[in-house]
Amino acid sequence: MLGSPGRAPPLLLVGLLLGLPVLLPARPPGGGRRPRYEPTWGSLDARPLPAWFDEAKFGVFIHWGVFSVPSFGSEWFWWYWQKEKRQPYVEFMEANYPPGFSYEDFGPLFTAEFFDPNQWADILKASGAKYVVLTSKHHEGFTLWGSKYSWNWNAVDVGPRRDLVAELETSVRNRTDLHFGLYHSLFEWFNPLFLEDAANAFMTRKFPTSKSLPELYEIVTKYQPEIIWSDGNGNAPDTYWNSTGFLAWLYNDSPVRDTVVTNDRWGVGSICTHGGFYTCSDRYNPGHLLPHKWENCMTIDSGSWGYRRNAQLSDYLTIQELVKQLVETVSCGGNLLMNIGPTHDGRIAVVFEERLRQMGAWLEVNGEAIYGTKPWRAQNDTATPGVWYTFSPKEGKVNAIFLDWPVSGTLVLGEPQAKLGETQVKLVGYEELLKWVALGEKGIIVALPQLTPKQLPCQWGWTLQLTDIS
Ligand SMILES: *[C@@H]1O[C@H](CO)[C@@H](O)[C@H](O)[C@H]1NC(C)=O
Ligand SMILES: *[C@@H]1O[C@H](CO)[C@@H](O)[C@H](O)[C@H]1NC(C)=O
Ligand SMILES: *[C@@H]1O[C@H](CO)[C@@H](O)[C@H](O)[C@H]1NC(C)=O
Repeated sequence: MLGSPGRAPPLLLVGLLLGLPVLLPARPPGGGRRPRYEPTWGSLDARPLPAWFDEAKFGVFIHWGVFSVPSFGSEWFWWYWQKEKRQPYVEFMEANYPPGFSYEDFGPLFTAEFFDPNQWADILKASGAKYVVLTSKHHEGFTLWGSKYSWNWNAVDVGPRRDLVAELETSVRNRTDLHFGLYHSLFEWFNPLFLEDAANAFMTRKFPTSKSLPELYEIVTKYQPEIIWSDGNGNAPDTYWNSTGFLAWLYNDSPVRDTVVTNDRWGVGSICTHGGFYTCSDRYNPGHLLPHKWENCMTIDSGSWGYRRNAQLSDYLTIQELVKQLVETVSCGGNLLMNIGPTHDGRIAVVFEERLRQMGAWLEVNGEAIYGTKPWRAQNDTATPGVWYTFSPKEGKVNAIFLDWPVSGTLVLGEPQAKLGETQVKLVGYEELLKWVALGEKGIIVALPQLTPKQLPCQWGWTLQLTDIS
């Protein structure tokens, strides 16, 4: 619920009741009245999502931490090795490390000597992404900033001896127009305080009050992230985490209250139901329009979010597959958050860099069919598979993005209703208007230009812009 009357001072209420002119507190920069949110889902869920997020459409996710040191199997290395005792992980440790080597011993080996935040920022910018989300702390509990609450298990005291969050934040903000976001795991697999609370069926709250919540307030105050990407509820309810209390502060009183967006992972049962945008599950891509803003978080390495040295080239999604993910996601009202896993020594492996730059090259041509668009009345075409629609509200254009260039040289679109003498069809990146004929009431056939591969405006997917169409 907006504009909570419970917080208004008594005099203000009396004034309002008597119809007297009253002074209203705390106006946002725009001059409009700032609503205050209650620490309830009903109130928090009613907050409009800041507009920049829907316009951005594409972000880059970065999974980096101590798990980047073994860089074997998965960023869930510690859990799979010591909790589940999965064979490949146990054997990997026996074969390569001395007996008694602990996960904590990987900390000093997280060196980041090649980490150049300016270079990272330049690569992120070249990808066409409009935001970045860095794992400030994953389930292992190691903070990439010098947290006061993560004694001797953070990047300033151990390993790089640098504040990796601060460095990336500075470079991203100095060199790009990307929005800076932080991932944060609520629970930690092996933190004794968390395990104690869990053993008490979460009736005690030592861990959130002394660790996760202080960390959340710390990263917001220090780095002013415009996304808080929460994860890892540890099977505890949002009341244990006091998620609504934190979010009410974030939306009402934090330094990022006007621009910050959050996701939906705030405790058991909140995913796909409460919070800001919905993530629903990893690699969520429903293929149809959703009534609520959502995000498809997925990873270029299909087998892991963190870097793994044992990945095969075929494990990496091709740029064709990545463009398809982007186009499907945006057509259905989502944002794409595409993940890379840097190495322990601070490099973005060149295969990730190549995918990012390829995406940027594609967006350089087709960005007007992606950024700032809205879903159209149809999401994909009914006659030709692999054609996805977006709508550019300012220009009133319908964009039909097709992922396969037809052998026939003509593209059949079953959805658009063209108007003779009015409708115009343009291939983005190609000068001349294209010829088309209507297929009765609904549908058109478009004659594509005959171009050699070098003459094509781009690869992997192309955009037809349709004007005066319904
Ligand atoms: C970022 O920009 C500010 C202001 O221009 C400058 O003082 C600072 O040195 C820059 N920092 C880095 C790391 O480039
Ligand atoms: C939850 O957080 C809010 C805002 O910081 C705070 O006022 C409240 O006391 C917290 N509640 C609990 C149970 O920790
Ligand atoms: C359009 O998308 C829906 C949902 O994914 C699917 O069922 C349908 O087959 C698609 N149509 C075409 C022509 O690809």
